[in-house]
Amino acid sequence: MAENQNRSQHGMWSSGTLFVLAAVGSAVGLGNIWKFPYITGDNGGGAFLLVYLICICLIGFPVMMAEIMLGREGRMSPINSLLKLARESNRSSKWSWIGWAGTVGGIIILSFYAVVAGWITYYIFRLFSGEFVNTDAEVVSSAFDLFLKDPWQVFLWFTIFMAVTVFVVARGVNKGLELAIRICMPLIFVLLIVLLVYGVAQGGFWEGFKFMFQVDFSKLKLNGLLVAMGHAFFTLSIGMGAIMAYGAYMPQGESLKSAVWIIVVVDTVVALVAGLAIFSIVFADGLSPAQGPGLLFVTVPLAFGDLPLGSIFGGLFFLFVAFAAFTSAISLTEPALAYFVEKYNVSRVVVAITIGFITWVLGIGSVFSFNLLSGFTPVFGWTIFDFFDKITQWFFLPLGGLAIAILVGYFLPKDRVWSALEINSSWAQIIWKALICVIAPVSIAVVFVLTIVQHFVS
Ligand code: PFF
Repeated sequence: MAENQNRSQHGMWSSGTLFVLAAVGSAVGLGNIWKFPYITGDNGGGAFLLVYLICICLIGFPVMMAEIMLGREGRMSPINSLLKLARESNRSSKWSWIGWAGTVGGIIILSFYAVVAGWITYYIFRLFSGEFVNTDAEVVSSAFDLFLKDPWQVFLWFTIFMAVTVFVVARGVNKGLELAIRICMPLIFVLLIVLLVYGVAQGGFWEGFKFMFQVDFSKLKLNGLLVAMGHAFFTLSIGMGAIMAYGAYMPQGESLKSAVWIIVVVDTVVALVAGLAIFSIVFADGLSPAQGPGLLFVTVPLAFGDLPLGSIFGGLFFLFVAFAAFTSAISLTEPALAYFVEKYNVSRVVVAITIGFITWVLGIGSVFSFNLLSGFTPVFGWTIFDFFDKITQWFFLPLGGLAIAILVGYFLPKDRVWSALEINSSWAQIIWKALICVIAPVSIAVVFVLTIVQHFVS
């Protein structure tokens, strides 16, 4: 565990900008492009969006600052960083449990995340093949259903995605990845805008816009509120140690506050543009906004299928979504990877293959949740995929975020926190204290208790 105060033994991002890009790479992923549109659709649109944005500002923002700061101050894996900081502050070493929960949670998330990323990977080839040129919604939607029902196809693409992830992770967080992030992040934006322009040209934009931005609280159920907060954590990659692990490689002199601003704004803008693009197409084609996880796989092939060179652009679109998923997937492995490298002093390759194998085995249950095991729902009627999705979203992420807020708000020396975060003026300190000591933890706790009551008590 040889570490130097200002460097991590695992290497460092080559600049502050690359840290921001890597963190944006972790934050922007399936959560923004696949999940955000369909949960907004399922939960009625505008009112849900408003609650989600409030959660991002009041909870996501301070918790992300706190989490990156813990990583940067510790300079090790989340487990060991927390241990080190707790010891230095004369606090219980049990605070490192947050790191353990995040490390395990990251593996669980990756196990089902890679299954959806596998669907995306398959769709790259499906679109390039021209299969969806000039088809209609019904054909596209039944093509998706048929695919999910084929266990071995889903298994194959999941395995391919996992193999690529392990391969890159094993090689280290280095230039290949940094370079790829630099090229692909802007391209995702460009293709999202193409999709949006298509939606506008089809005449569905205003309806899509109204659906997303017209706030009608009668459409928001309690469940929507809970989903909104869980998603705020998921989309920002917080509460999990992933962003803490990345923070450990952040160069010293860079401003953490500005980095967090950029990450949060870019993540939110990508989600909003993806939502607008997808709902414009939904309304232009007379589809239902509430069609669950298949939403992206129906709207995008339909839109690009109608465009000149649509199969190429459509294929590219899925390629970049796969890339966005990939840059998130690698961050999910980093807490575990860094920890085992520190503990056993073995190479990243060995650890990456081991973690990849465990995740792959765990993911098989999620692969079969849509076909062979779709009737296997022993816990609350959930499939294995639902089970992993819900326990991470309802327990791991919010409780991780809550513990981080409490640790930073109440148990670490204030001066250290303020200087790490460059919170100097007294009004900034008051705002910070209000957010990290009261608003974030109280809101997380309230939403958590409501979730338990809603799903497990009543
Ligand atoms: N933020 C990623 C997304 O929106 O797709 C998912 C994710 C990555 C969640 C890393 C949690 C995490 F630690």
